[in-house]
Formats: sequence, C-alpha cells, structure tokens
Amino acid sequence: MEESSPTAIGAIETRKAHPYDAEAILAAHLDSIRSIGPRFYSSEIVDAWVAGLTANVYVNAMEGGEVFFIAVGPLNGESAVLGFASHRVDDDQDGASVYVRGMASRCGIGTKLLGLAEEHARANGAKSIKIQASLAGVAFYQANGFEEIGRGEALLMTGQSMPCIFMRKLL
Ligand SMILES: CC(C)(COP(=O)(O)OP(=O)(O)OC[C@H]1O[C@@H](n2cnc3c(N)ncnc32)[C@H](O)[C@@H]1OP(=O)(O)O)[C@@H](O)C(=O)NCCC(=O)NCCS
Repeated sequence: MEESSPTAIGAIETRKAHPYDAEAILAAHLDSIRSIGPRFYSSEIVDAWVAGLTANVYVNAMEGGEVFFIAVGPLNGESAVLGFASHRVDDDQDGASVYVRGMASRCGIGTKLLGLAEEHARANGAKSIKIQASLAGVAFYQANGFEEIGRGEALLMTGQSMPCIFMRKLL
C-alpha cells in the first residue's frame, strides 16, 4: 500500500506520515509516555523511556523502512498529531507500536491507527505481528486481538530496560 487516503474520525484525520511530520510525532510520543506511562511505571523508567527521543529518531526510522501513520486533530485550538502507529520489519519479523496523547485516549484513535499499521503489514505479506507491549498497552492490544506469548524486558535507548509483555496477533 502506498499513499493512504485520509479518513476521518469526527474531526480527526488519519494519514501516512512523512519526515516533515517528525517534530509533531515526537511531541505526541512524549505526551503519550509522560501522561499515560506513570500509571504503569516508576518515574525513573518513564524518564528513561523518553530519553534520547528526538525528531531524527522518526526520520531515520522512516529512511530505514518503518512506516508511520498519524492521527491529526484539534488540540488547544490548533491542529496537532494526537497519536501514531508504525509498522516495521526486523529480522523478518513484522512489528508495530501505537502511542496516543493522554487527552485523546479512549476515543478509538489507537484502534484506528493500529488498523492502518496492520493493513500495511498485511499488504506487504505479513502473516502475523509481534509487539513488545508496554504495561500501558497490554489491555489495548488484547482488545485488538493480540495474545501474550511471553514476558520480559524491553531495551531502551539509554541502555536501561523496562518490563514488557511479548504479544502476537495472527493476521
Ligand atoms: C495503548 C494506547 C495506544 C491506546 O490508545 P487509545 O486510543 O486510548 O485506545 P482505544 O481508544 O482505541 O482503545 C480501544 C480499547 O482498548 C482497551 N484499552 C485501551 N486503553 C486501555 C486502558 N488504559 N485500560 C484498559 N483498557 C484499555 C479498551 O478495551 C478500549 O475500548 P473502550 O475504550 O471502548 O473500553 C494508549 O493508551 C497509549 O498511548 N499508551 C501509552 C503508550 C504505550 O504504552 N503504547 C504502547 C507501546 S508498545
């Protein structure tokens, strides 16, 4: 699938992201971790989770083949990225991740974005998707058809790690 046509959830549009969206994706990513993460992790882990995130992280990921989908909608009277999902292939394994701003959570945005990432994976021949789910995402991924296949630690950019649940969905 190449350019996806924007679809709207109320006043919210979803579309494939481009490198020029990187700063807006970063802002949504930081908001999501900072607003939702502390319900599930210590402040030390939340600090380590955001450390090292810069706009270049997404630009480099896009250049490496990771595809991002964003939800754009109103935030404090301006248009902003409210959340994003991505699909990537590492060592022949299809992976995805989803982040939504705290103020925009539980509105179906994460589900919509995950659906776009799954659609992209399927269109590229994936038969399943694996996720290192943060504890803040487990119930969401379960609600979207993922099953636990193990537990462990996710490595962060600081070299620290955080507990996570390994999950998989057959497509
Ligand atoms: C996980 C996340 C992306 C979910 O996004 P969202 O837009 O709020 O999800 P949706 O509104 O589509 O939720 C769909 C369903 O998932 C489940 N769900 C989502 N968040 C949940 C939560 N915090 N607790 C329990 N169930 C939850 C519910 O069944 C929900 O349906 P409902 O609202 O009708 O009950 C968001 O909470 C987030 O960004 N978390 C922090 C970052 C993170 O950990 N991301 C995962 C990285 S691997």
